[in-house]
Amino acid sequence: MSDPIISFTDVTYTYAGTDEPALHSISLEIQPGEYVAVLGLNGAGKTTLGLCVNGVVPTMLGGELTGTVLVGGLDVSEYPVREMSKLVGMVFDNPEFQMSQMSAAEEVALGLENAGVPYEEMRRIIPETLELVGLGGFEERSPLGLSGGQQQRLAIAAVLAMKPQILIMDEPTSNLDPIGKQEVFDMAAKLNRERGMTVIVIEHEVEVMARYADRVIVLDAGRIVMNGTPQEIFSRVDELDALKLRVPESAALARVLGSEYGLWKGQVPITTEPAVSAINELLGAKNA
Ligand SMILES: Nc1ncnc2c1ncn2[C@@H]1O[C@H](COP(=O)(O)OP(=O)(O)OP(=O)(O)O)[C@@H](O)[C@H]1O
Ligand SMILES: [Mg+2]
Repeated sequence: MSDPIISFTDVTYTYAGTDEPALHSISLEIQPGEYVAVLGLNGAGKTTLGLCVNGVVPTMLGGELTGTVLVGGLDVSEYPVREMSKLVGMVFDNPEFQMSQMSAAEEVALGLENAGVPYEEMRRIIPETLELVGLGGFEERSPLGLSGGQQQRLAIAAVLAMKPQILIMDEPTSNLDPIGKQEVFDMAAKLNRERGMTVIVIEHEVEVMARYADRVIVLDAGRIVMNGTPQEIFSRVDELDALKLRVPESAALARVLGSEYGLWKGQVPITTEPAVSAINELLGAKNA
């Protein structure tokens, strides 16, 4: 295995002005090119975990961090966020609030300007990056006149222009309709599979995570309580229930059918196709 691109070693973090740590004794390694989903209830520490990777915690927000977060070999507590943004791009749930410019091109240019990228290079990078997120030719469009899904892809383009190795999306589709959601997830999967980008998605859409993620991390009250493949994690239906977390519909259905008909001992189907074929077999056997 190659060196991890992200590694947390016994990280505990407490926000300034609070007593309880938001993250407790986190140890975690993420390999380059992994697609990792982070699940957890409100307040579990998901966003804080993401902010540790882009260095906003602790360099901008202060507070107390013990342990070490290394990203691309750099200790995040020693580098300014501006420096980390060349390595890590992070987008949030409300794309509209992330738009501040008059045109899509200017939106993408903003980070590049701040990083001192020469004008000639920017003229090359902007159309290329818009193309990458499926917004080719949108240079002069007003960000506020785009659909939610397009806005979110533009927000992603703005961070991708910096050529980060890691993309963190914090509930990127919670304000989008099903089509917008699909656009964003398809694009993230493409960046991951075709460009080898490391992707971390904080998400409640467990169906999507079951389909795309290589690994699922479950946070509860600031601690990692589960860490494994989607198959491993979503098979633990009872434990997820106890944590009040949703499981994919297929896994929930499989639990009911499984106990009734003695199916799926251990590994339950976590996506639709295997659930459907098992039900078909069951129906076939009954009708035979
Ligand atoms: N800026 C802040 N100052 C003080 N405490 C904070 C700050 N941001 C978050 N917290 C606290 O840290 C804990 C973890 O919050 P965090 O936002 O990381 O959770 P989350 O899992 O992202 O939740 P959500 O699903 O609601 O987005 C919570 O107890 C929260 O109140
Ligand atoms: Mg959050």
